[in-house]
Amino acid sequence: MTKVKIVYASLTGNNEAIADYVASGLTARGLDVDVEEMSQALADDLADVDVAVVASYTYSGVTDGELPDEAIDFYEDLQELTLPALRFAVCGSGDSTYEQFCTAVDQFQAAFLQAGATPCAEPVKVDLAPEAADWAHLDAVVAAIAAL
Ligand SMILES: Cc1cc2nc3c(=O)[nH]c(=O)nc-3n(C[C@H](O)[C@H](O)[C@H](O)COP(=O)(O)O)c2cc1C
Repeated sequence: MTKVKIVYASLTGNNEAIADYVASGLTARGLDVDVEEMSQALADDLADVDVAVVASYTYSGVTDGELPDEAIDFYEDLQELTLPALRFAVCGSGDSTYEQFCTAVDQFQAAFLQAGATPCAEPVKVDLAPEAADWAHLDAVVAAIAAL
């Protein structure tokens, strides 16, 4: 059975909802799914799964377009890994009024590629709370993973 780990960073619930939606879809298709909040997750654990899904918001500290604080350890540890057998998908909700929209999605996409992992779906960027078109994009992520 395909093992999937979903890791999310969420302050106000949008990315948690995305993670839960993807998890529900994959569980309904019979996959073995584990969901973890990013500050509690260990990047090393990705070596033990077939597919990783990350959902992260984007924050602003010194500049716009930064990773959330609670994502830093996971992100930096991911950058140290080599994961050639891993498939992955990245999604995230941000806010398009910021010039650096959803850049956390781009950063995680690049980190997984750098680790040698293979994307199984296009990155999904959501503007604030997901709407019908966003759920449809997430359905496509679920379908792509379920088809592996
Ligand atoms: C202080 C602050 C800074 C933010 N900076 C950015 C940003 O630079 N780029 C972006 O796309 N979204 C930015 N956002 C928007 C959040 O990423 C967006 O509200 C997201 O939906 C939050 O996800 P969550 O509900 O999972 O916490 C910022 C939000 C806050 C409160």
